[in-house]
Amino acid sequence: MTQAPVRPAPEQPRTGFRGKGPNYQQLLDTDSKPVPASLRRDEPGEFGSDDIPVERYLSREWHEREKTRLWSRVWQFACREEVLAEVGDTEVYDIVDSSFLLVRVAPGAGGIRAYVNACLHRGRALRDGPGRVDDLQCPFHGFCWHLDGRLKRVPSAWDFPQVTPETFRLPEVRVATWGGFVFVNPDPDAGPFEEFMGDLPSLFERWPLDRRYTRAHVSKVIRVNWKVAQDAFMESYHVVTTHPQLLQGFGDANSQYDVFGNVARGISPRGVASPYLSWEPTEQEKLNSSIDQRMDDPQILVVPEGENARTVLAEAARRQIRQVVGPEAEQLSDAELVDSYYINLFPNFHPWGAYNQIVYRFRPHGDDHTSCIMECFLLAPFTGERPPPAEHVALGPDDAWRDATEVLGSLARVFDQDEFNLEAVQKGLRATRKPGVTFAVYQESKIRHFHHLLSQWCLDPLSP
Ligand code: FES
Ligand SMILES: [Fe+2]
Repeated sequence: MTQAPVRPAPEQPRTGFRGKGPNYQQLLDTDSKPVPASLRRDEPGEFGSDDIPVERYLSREWHEREKTRLWSRVWQFACREEVLAEVGDTEVYDIVDSSFLLVRVAPGAGGIRAYVNACLHRGRALRDGPGRVDDLQCPFHGFCWHLDGRLKRVPSAWDFPQVTPETFRLPEVRVATWGGFVFVNPDPDAGPFEEFMGDLPSLFERWPLDRRYTRAHVSKVIRVNWKVAQDAFMESYHVVTTHPQLLQGFGDANSQYDVFGNVARGISPRGVASPYLSWEPTEQEKLNSSIDQRMDDPQILVVPEGENARTVLAEAARRQIRQVVGPEAEQLSDAELVDSYYINLFPNFHPWGAYNQIVYRFRPHGDDHTSCIMECFLLAPFTGERPPPAEHVALGPDDAWRDATEVLGSLARVFDQDEFNLEAVQKGLRATRKPGVTFAVYQESKIRHFHHLLSQWCLDPLSP
């Protein structure tokens, strides 16, 4: 296995390096409202310019390393808390060859437990999917447990003198919650989740994700290594070539990329033109190109003489959000209402900031290192009683995201554009004679940050 990064490049200045055009902090200076302190953080990661070994995306050996060093030890997003609303609600979370059964055991904080999803009799998965139950009964021979993991019933108990309540408690794994998300960690010795997520809550202070409901949940199997898919959603550098329809209203090369511990953030301004356009669109053209999935009901917006696309977009979004969050909407800056904040917590959890609604998760498809599951949750604010979470729509490798347009709206087309490249990336990585992938130093620094941490988890015998 090639463990050392290849093709070292000469030293070059890093911090402060940016493409042409105004940077994001300069754009914030023009906001019509005060912007939150978290957006004023401009903290680029420093990961050098070395290539990342191709074998991470291809080899079974690396996948096995991820299984034993990463997935079995890291905090990972398992499900939304809202699917475990009532005592007896269950959900199954599968990762590589592990499966965990999440159960609401009691109301309120701390009332969720996660068990290894395997019957202690002959090993059948205790549950195949979500549902509300009174107890946990195995469908094979009927061994049964209380919700809290205590053994409840053994059919023909006289035939199992070796089975005792003490030895047949369901084995648990650790659970933590944040922002309406449930996380699990299979490693009993792992540090606390609060420490692991670090600055994540401070970035979401103004946009509490626990006060959202899942209005869409779509997953899709893609025939590529999970990191090939994830990489494609961690930078805006690809927008120029992959999503040319966005350029009139998308500041791709003016994006900002930050790193805070296990968290990384990309910020892409909208309502401004790409510096790569050879002409300057009108404010109206910038606005037309920026209407996106945040507008459930896209209106015909007009930029009045003397105003700009950002303020008009922001005011329209503010009006819409005010109907749901009330007067709080008045505090929101133009930036929060218009721009894209794509944040990720290592290794695979990607909640977007502000009211953008997107949350991505990427993971191997079962124990297969050549295919993956990409998921998109859309989390919408609500008034009054919490609406029930949307049904999960599962797409296969030959389906198109367009098949889920009804729930994903305009995002479906964008995802199809993104996926167009993915199998071709996997193919090219197999074919290439070049041992490493050459990422941009700044614009692809979120991916460099991921690989930096992946190296620590999978290669360093002592850390984390
Ligand atoms: S395998 Fe579960 S009861 Fe037999
Ligand atoms: Fe994209």
